[in-house]
Amino acid sequence: MKIAVIGTGYVGLVTGTCFAETGNTVTCVDIDVNKINKLNSGKLTIYEPGLEKLFLRNQKEARLHFTTNLKEGITDAQIIFLALPTPPGEDGSADLKYILGVADELGKIISNYVIIIDKSTVPVGTADKVYAAIAKSLPTGQAGATVPFDVVSNPEFLREGVAVDDFMKPDRVVIGTSSDRAKKTLNELYLPFVRQGNPIIYMDEKSAELTKYAANAFLATKITFMNEIANLCEKFGADVDMVRKGIGSDERIGRRFLFPGIGYGGSCFPKDVQALAKSAADVNYEFKILDAVMEINEKQKLNLIPKIKAYFNNELKGKKIALWGLAFKPNTDDIREAPALSIINALLREGAVITAYDPEAMPNVKALLADKIKFTDRQYDTLMDADALVIATEWSEFRTPDFNNMISLLKNKVIFDGRNLFDLTKMEELGFHYESVGRRTIKP
Ligand SMILES: NC(=O)c1ccc[n+]([C@@H]2O[C@H](COP(=O)([O-])OP(=O)(O)OC[C@H]3O[C@@H](n4cnc5c(N)ncnc54)[C@H](O)[C@@H]3O)[C@@H](O)[C@H]2O)c1
Repeated sequence: MKIAVIGTGYVGLVTGTCFAETGNTVTCVDIDVNKINKLNSGKLTIYEPGLEKLFLRNQKEARLHFTTNLKEGITDAQIIFLALPTPPGEDGSADLKYILGVADELGKIISNYVIIIDKSTVPVGTADKVYAAIAKSLPTGQAGATVPFDVVSNPEFLREGVAVDDFMKPDRVVIGTSSDRAKKTLNELYLPFVRQGNPIIYMDEKSAELTKYAANAFLATKITFMNEIANLCEKFGADVDMVRKGIGSDERIGRRFLFPGIGYGGSCFPKDVQALAKSAADVNYEFKILDAVMEINEKQKLNLIPKIKAYFNNELKGKKIALWGLAFKPNTDDIREAPALSIINALLREGAVITAYDPEAMPNVKALLADKIKFTDRQYDTLMDADALVIATEWSEFRTPDFNNMISLLKNKVIFDGRNLFDLTKMEELGFHYESVGRRTIKP
């Protein structure tokens, strides 16, 4: 099939590459000239494990193309995916200006039957709005009078860090459409991805749009619930690891997404929870859980700060803090809404001096914070003479570090761990002062 993907960010680039991998001819379009130039010169614009091999192979086989020219990009396309940003607007609702702007453009240039697919996360009713925007700008001004088209909702569930695997073997594909013609084409397109029997679930457009928000809001709520339990464990002197195991073995609860920490971040959960709360308010429904989730999560990002302040008797001025982890989660360079950024801001306000390391996200943080904090190219170099180490992201390489090396470099054997990476007994044996989330404090 001939496919166009409009918007070549995390979702667009993975979507385009993976559809090329199953034999389709894909053109990815973006307005960012630098991005497209880089991609055309064979370089990836995001860090995503496993993507480079597929990207290079499909580019070499001339199945994957990049352009800044929308008209050229959609020529002969049977399917056009919209993988455009839907950032929060001032009132918290998803801002549809990118989607509707492109829809308007498409109306002016489509010339044959085409399926236009919302892959972005969009509020209920957006498929109708996209349809209306395209219909309005069709040369005749009449919906479908000269050029027939369908608008389908096909939300994306990939997770950054495992995006290629998630796309190639999705738990499910959700397709919201009332058009049999679109359904038939999309069934053919997605069949190679569900060969192991995972379902393609067809529904109406509105239900598909809501499914994506419901999934993200549920997961954000699950994390937040567990963080609340962790905070309660600290008050009671219980161990959240034990509680987690105790409840996770109940199949109705499940083991996944129960790890407590310093809150969720990223480009999706924060904005999607906020957008769903706003959508609910727009139809006069007070979605109280979501308000609580947002409030608690913001607080949780700063869970370590009172612990750090208490350890240093509220005197953080001039204290040298080593920070491991900047990305909002491991295996990505994405720092949008990352808890590490909240920690950095809070520590800087107290006058601390921060030296940070992250395997992938340092360039993005450098671009944001310039010289407000220092960076080192290697994880252990941050520890030189540091008064304490703070861990904000659970990268694998932080899990079994060389503790002897750490002890020789750190000024104080003090760790504040926002991701519960280390075994408490081990920390005790090594003589650390070690504070984590929802577990007892280890004192030397
Ligand atoms: N990142 C994720 O993990 C993820 C997962 C599932 C769903 N989503 C949703 O997918 C959508 C896209 O997210 P993303 O993370 O890929 O965003 P992104 O910011 O990484 O990428 C969006 C791209 O669209 C481009 N763009 C903006 N206006 C354009 C225009 N008029 N024409 C062409 N290109 C244009 C931008 O330059 C950018 O490259 C969002 O709605 C998001 O909520 C994201």
